[in-house]
Amino acid sequence: MISTHKILFTNSNNLKVIPSKSVGLVITSPPYPMIEMWDESFKSQNAEIKEALENDNGPTAFELMHLELDRVWSEAYRVLEDGGIACINIGDATRTIGKRFQLYSNHARILSYCLERGFGSLPPIIWRKQTNAPNKFMGSGMLPPGAYVTLEHEFILVLRKGDKREFRTSAQKLNRSQSAFFWEERNIWFSDVWDFKGTRQQLNNDKSRNRSAAFPFELAYRLINMFSVKLDTVLDPFVGTGTTTLAAMASCRNSIGVEIDPNFQEIIESGIDGVAALMNDYIQGRLERHLHFVQEYEETKKELKYKSKHYGFPVMTRQEIEIIINYVRSIIKSNDNEFEVDYLDEPLLKMAESSSYDQIRDNADLLNNKTSKPQLTLPF
Ligand SMILES: C[S@@+](CC[C@H](N)C(=O)[O-])C[C@H]1O[C@@H](n2cnc3c(N)ncnc32)[C@H](O)[C@@H]1O
Repeated sequence: MISTHKILFTNSNNLKVIPSKSVGLVITSPPYPMIEMWDESFKSQNAEIKEALENDNGPTAFELMHLELDRVWSEAYRVLEDGGIACINIGDATRTIGKRFQLYSNHARILSYCLERGFGSLPPIIWRKQTNAPNKFMGSGMLPPGAYVTLEHEFILVLRKGDKREFRTSAQKLNRSQSAFFWEERNIWFSDVWDFKGTRQQLNNDKSRNRSAAFPFELAYRLINMFSVKLDTVLDPFVGTGTTTLAAMASCRNSIGVEIDPNFQEIIESGIDGVAALMNDYIQGRLERHLHFVQEYEETKKELKYKSKHYGFPVMTRQEIEIIINYVRSIIKSNDNEFEVDYLDEPLLKMAESSSYDQIRDNADLLNNKTSKPQLTLPF
């Protein structure tokens, strides 16, 4: 299996190079209107935004910034296939303009435009951000009524184009089953409040995150695995450091990332360089966590009924039997701003060549015999 990944350096308000209905999933986080770090970017797109901010006209600046984003949501809608999903990570903004402090509700404005454009809304996710200063206060301190609550969360809007996606042919159905996730992952991923405390993997480095407002790898990886199947095309119209590209690469999805600022080219490329081993470590982590789950479940509750066809270890439901989480064999730059990722298609056969498949089997056997704690190592 091979996936392809493209980065386009252009304004995503016009994506005519991407055919209509060719994208399975959109994952993105736009520049946030009314957050000062994005003022310059918005001003460069429309001079009236500069004027509104200079005239202390917050609501007008807010609306004009969103009119710029609306054009991107409209393109996202066009390129999505029927039943395709868009996940938009967005935070609200609080700001004092002139003398007035107020909330600018970015998530509500985006949702309202997207519904108007034709999307249907699915339950959103609240991403609880960890704050370094839990007792940070805004406004009049301890004096009512002018003290304000602190924003400690962002939203991930989940929107669908049209009705539920259909999987008609047996090949499509098999691909869907092989793209499934584990029961215990579902219980965490489909909760409507996320924080990433305790998630250990971070593929994008912290330096570029600070400079670019990148979201965590885990966020993109989960959304891709929740809302698309292998070899779908995932589009991020505000790709920044390329987190969505990395998560698509690690998930056997194709991807297109769009970025207006060509300075990100180097950051994206350096993020991709040498990342295959980290991706395999991440994938290995999923398998390890599953084995730990099985061990704990069977020790404290009962034996699981089903067995994974490809790994041999127990799984909770029939829907998990076909799961294959492919390891990455190689990532190559195939052209300017284009990459190809090659995967191990048959995890068992290929892994049998290395000692670690035996280890996974041994561990599965150990689990079945409920004897010892699984210890897995990477086959790379
Ligand atoms: C919040 S950041 C996205 C960060 C990204 N999720 C990551 O993990 O690195 C928004 C990005 O959108 C880019 N951008 C802003 N306006 C754009 C536009 N109209 N078209 C394409 N990219 C744009 C910015 O340069 C910035 O890199």
